[in-house]
Amino acid sequence: MSTTTKTKYELPFTGIKEYKMFINNEWVDSVTGKTLESVNPFTGQVWAIAPAGEAEDIDLAVQAAQAAFEDSEWSRMTGSQRGALLRRLGDLIAENAERLAISEVVDNGKLIREMLGQVKSLPNWCYYFAGYADKITGETIPVDVPNMINYTVREPLGVVGAIVPWNSPLLLTLWKLCPALAAGNTIVIKPSEVTPASLLELATLVQEAGFPPGVVNVVTGFGHTAGAALSTHPLVRKIAFTGSTETGRRIVRSSAEHFSKVSLELGGKSPNIIFDDADMSNAVNGVLAGIFAATGQTCMAGSRVLVHSSIYDQFADALVKRTSEIRLGNPLDMETEMGTVAFEGQHQKVLSYIQIGLEEGATLLHGGKRPVTNELKNGFFVEPTIFGDVTNDMRIAREEIFGPVVCLIRFDSEEEAVRIANDTPYGLASAVWTKDVQRAHRVAAKIKAGTVWINNYRKVATGVPFGGYKASGIGRENGWYAMLEYTQVKSIWVDTGNVITDPFKIL
Ligand code: NAI
Ligand code: MG
Repeated sequence: MSTTTKTKYELPFTGIKEYKMFINNEWVDSVTGKTLESVNPFTGQVWAIAPAGEAEDIDLAVQAAQAAFEDSEWSRMTGSQRGALLRRLGDLIAENAERLAISEVVDNGKLIREMLGQVKSLPNWCYYFAGYADKITGETIPVDVPNMINYTVREPLGVVGAIVPWNSPLLLTLWKLCPALAAGNTIVIKPSEVTPASLLELATLVQEAGFPPGVVNVVTGFGHTAGAALSTHPLVRKIAFTGSTETGRRIVRSSAEHFSKVSLELGGKSPNIIFDDADMSNAVNGVLAGIFAATGQTCMAGSRVLVHSSIYDQFADALVKRTSEIRLGNPLDMETEMGTVAFEGQHQKVLSYIQIGLEEGATLLHGGKRPVTNELKNGFFVEPTIFGDVTNDMRIAREEIFGPVVCLIRFDSEEEAVRIANDTPYGLASAVWTKDVQRAHRVAAKIKAGTVWINNYRKVATGVPFGGYKASGIGRENGWYAMLEYTQVKSIWVDTGNVITDPFKIL
């Protein structure tokens, strides 16, 4: 592993980096020659340029992926050969962890110390799904027909289109790429226009690992052009999407045209429920990690904190105290505890929600502004913000802010906590903080969300299904569940000796 701990990291070049995109194992410009700019959200300056691919570029990539799927070295590989390639990719990610981490930090303002940790865990996804590549088994199914065998096989779908957001491009892409390739599909990835770089860096490793041409393609470009073209392409058999609920809705509509399979991982307004017997210090740390990690820009952010009335003041004081000590700074500095919001539009959105919270009558307990110190003034920073006295009907409690803004909501009973927790269009994640084991499981059973953490927050693992109830999505990522999303089942009937009578001759 090339990473040694430093106190500060730097981009390994000066000036503006010019990327090409990756189609059929070749590095190309867009057909139109158009480009898009990636802004470093800490400096506010353009640091990289990437092609702005459109429908024609998507078509070239999808055609390459289709050719690789139909008849190629890839389509003839055994599962264990595909697994070996995925393991090689995992090794290369580990060897290049620092480079990958830095590219994402300057693209989206996430912390280097968080990214170094995350990038080191990324190979686990390659290794885990590599293990499935030669274990995709079917069943034999007993049927009530004499002399008949039925068996099933799980087959890949074909070309997968992965449309990914800006908050965690590498992680959220590997959640799709690893099971898709393990199953024998091919893939066209469309990164967010805000963060094109880290996935183009990943593509260099795909090439180095030795995947045949067309198996993995990365087309950078905007959502309404490249993204829309990918999600409506007739040869794309599945769209795997992470992003906003609104774009998710569009993708489902466009999938109706060709009946492509869809999995969606959308937004959340996840409740973090603190009962009166919770370990206060653990709960404060869990709430901090839930909302201020990645500057609140995670789908699983614990943005609604439900606190029992009897401990509300004590909890709010402890949370404000620790929050006031959070160090904002250069995301490439290992000492920094919270980075920037990823881009200007999102920065505006977060600040406008803070204004909405004030107008709705919530009590601003901490933060609420854009910091103006010399070091921070060019970056898209928002102070870590805590609103108290929030009621669940306020917009700040109902709508996804996707920034470092947490709402504290009081409750008086377990029933009320469950009711408030479930009173949301979303259902991605949740947490219960209590020492009462019976209550913990009772509440976990009642929460309508794809994940419940008991006395912890924000944990994910290769083998554990992740996804949403209600407006938080369709389908699950990770584990065997993901393999089901990237395969389809065929049932095969074998007659072992019946005489087939002529169906039109009635005796
Ligand atoms: P978005 O949903 O527009 O972007 C996600 C991806 O979809 C990007 O690659 C984008 O280019 C693509 N896209 C956009 N329009 C498309 C279209 N018509 N067809 C196909 N692909 C399209 O999200 P955006 O605008 O960047 O963020 C808006 C809000 O969405 C955030 O404030 C946050 O609330 C939520 N969000 C949730 C995420 C999650 O992890 N669940 C990630 C990113 C955003
Ligand atoms: Mg950027």
